[in-house]
Amino acid sequence: MLAHLKKQLGREIAKKVSLSELDIFLTLEVPKIYEHGHLAWPVFQYAQLLKKNPKEVAQNLALELQNSIEGLKSVQALGGFLNFKFEASKLVEILCLSAKEKFLSQQNEGKGRTVVIDYASPNVAKKMHIGHLRATNIGQAIRNLAQANGYKVIGVNHLGDWGTQFGKLAWALEKWGPALGEKAWTIDGLLELYVKFHEEMEKNPALEAEGAATFLRLEQGDLKIKEIWLKIIEASLKDYARMFQILNVKHDLILGESFYNDKLADVLKLLESKGLLKESEGAQVVMFEEKEKMPPCLIKKSDGASLYATRDLAAAIYRHDQLKGDELIYVVGADQNLHFKQVFKVLELMGFDWSKNCHHVGFGLVRFKEGKMSTRKGRVIHLEDVIESAIEIVTKTVEEKNPDLENKQENIRKIAIGAVIFNDLINDRMKNIEFDWDRALSTEGDSGPYVQYTTVRCKSILRKVQFKWVGMPLEKDWTQEEEKLVFTLMQFQDVVKVSYSNLKPNILAQYLLQVCADFSHFYHHNRVIGVESQIENRRLHLVELCRRTLEEGLGLLNISAPEMM
Ligand code: ARG
Repeated sequence: MLAHLKKQLGREIAKKVSLSELDIFLTLEVPKIYEHGHLAWPVFQYAQLLKKNPKEVAQNLALELQNSIEGLKSVQALGGFLNFKFEASKLVEILCLSAKEKFLSQQNEGKGRTVVIDYASPNVAKKMHIGHLRATNIGQAIRNLAQANGYKVIGVNHLGDWGTQFGKLAWALEKWGPALGEKAWTIDGLLELYVKFHEEMEKNPALEAEGAATFLRLEQGDLKIKEIWLKIIEASLKDYARMFQILNVKHDLILGESFYNDKLADVLKLLESKGLLKESEGAQVVMFEEKEKMPPCLIKKSDGASLYATRDLAAAIYRHDQLKGDELIYVVGADQNLHFKQVFKVLELMGFDWSKNCHHVGFGLVRFKEGKMSTRKGRVIHLEDVIESAIEIVTKTVEEKNPDLENKQENIRKIAIGAVIFNDLINDRMKNIEFDWDRALSTEGDSGPYVQYTTVRCKSILRKVQFKWVGMPLEKDWTQEEEKLVFTLMQFQDVVKVSYSNLKPNILAQYLLQVCADFSHFYHHNRVIGVESQIENRRLHLVELCRRTLEEGLGLLNISAPEMM
C-alpha cells in the first residue's frame, strides 16, 4: 500500500516539475532513517535538467509543496532530498485499504502471465540432502510469492530419474534384491544396493559393463528392466512425498528427466539444422564464442547417450511451448551455475528469444558448526536428519520450559520446521550459510521462532478480548510507536512485490523481523487492553493487522504459526 501513497505524492510533485508521474513514482524512496520522514524524493536528476543547484531546487520545492495534499504533515529539504512526513491518520487510512481483502499482500501484477518453477527436484534412489532442503524452501517460497503477485504458477519436480546409474541399480536389484526382501524397495534398501554394487565393482571391474548393458536394455525398452526402474521411482517418490508433506511443499507436475527421452531427437534435429552441433572427440557439442568464456555444452556422448543438458534443453522448450510458461525459474544450487548459463545460451543460439525469461535462482551451501551434524568429513547430510534434529531440540526445550503446552506434538513440529525454513530464507540466498542451531531456534534472535512467537503474542491478546474487526478508528493523536508500526505494516504489499521481482525471499523474511521489532516496541510502550475504549479499540485493530501480516508473511515463506508457544 506504500505504492498508493507514492502515487498520490508523485501526482502532486508532477504538478510542480516537468517530469512524469511515473518517473517520480519510481524514484520515491523510504528514507533509511525513520526520523527523516516516510518518503523521500531525490531532486538531483531534476536539478541537473534545470542546471541548478540541487539544494536550492529542493528548498524551493519544499515551500511549494507545503500542504499540497491532505494528510501531509511536513515537507523538508535536506541536502538534495525532499523529505515528506504524513499524518498517522493518513497512513492508517491507506493501511486499511487492503484490510477488507482476504489477503493483505495479494496483487495482480502478474495477471495473465504464467511462471513455471522448477524446485526441490531430487535424484531418484537417493535421499534428499541438505542442498535439496534449500532448493525446496527457496523454491516453495518463490512459488508462493509469485502467486501472491498474481501469476499463474506451475511448480515442476524435475526428478532425476535417468542415467547409467539405473542400469547398475537394476542389475543389483535383480541379483541381490531378493535377499534383502521388502527392504530392497525402500530408499534405504536402494542406497544399500547401490553402495554394494560399487564395492563389488572394485573387486570385479567387469560389473561396470554389466551395469551399462542393463542401462542399454532400459533405453531400448526392455519390459522387465523398465518395470524395475518404475518400481525404483515409486519407492523414491514415496520417500519424497513424506518429506514434502512435512515441509508442506507442493508441485503441480512431476516431470522427470526421462519424460523428455522421446523429445530429444527433435532438439538434436533443431540444433543440427541451425548448424550449432560440432563434433568433438566423437561427441556432439555446442561451442560458444570466446567472449562467453564457457566450455562447450555437451549434447550427445560418443556412445550416443544424451546428457543432463540435452534433457534440460528439451524441458525448457516443453515448459515454454506446452506449459505456456512466460517465465521459467530454476531453483538449483549455485554449483550448477555453469550448467544453466550454458543451457540458456544454447536456447538463445537456437533463436528462442524467450531464453531471456529463463532465470537460474542459485543458492550457496549450508555448513554445520562442529558437533552432531558436522559437515567436516564430507559426509552427506540428509534433509530428514536436519528436521529430526530440530524436532528433538525443540522437544527438549518445550519439555523443560513449557511441558503443558497444548497440542504439544503439533506445535513442536511447527516450531522446529519453521526454524529450519526461516534460517534458510533469512540469508541472501547466494551466501553460504552456517547452520547454527542456537540461533535458528532462539525465540529472541533473528529466527523463525521469534516471528512465530510475536504472532502468538498478537493472537493471545486478541483472544483475550475475543476481538472482532469493526473498522479502524482514524482519529488523531497516534503515538510514535503506533505510527511506526502502521508505516511498517503499510509496506507489506510492496515488500512482497520486491521480494518476488528480485527472486529473493530474504527480503520478505527481513521485513517480518522489522514488523516484530516494531510490534515489540509498540507493545512495550503502549498499553493495549485496559486503556480508554477508543484507544483500546484502535490498538486492537493494529494488533490484528500485525497478526495478519505476520501470519500471511510466514505463510508465504511456507511457515505456519502455532496457536500457543
Ligand atoms: N536433480 C538435480 C539435482 O539434484 C536438480 C535438477 C534441477 N532442475 C533442472 N531442470 N536441471 O542436482
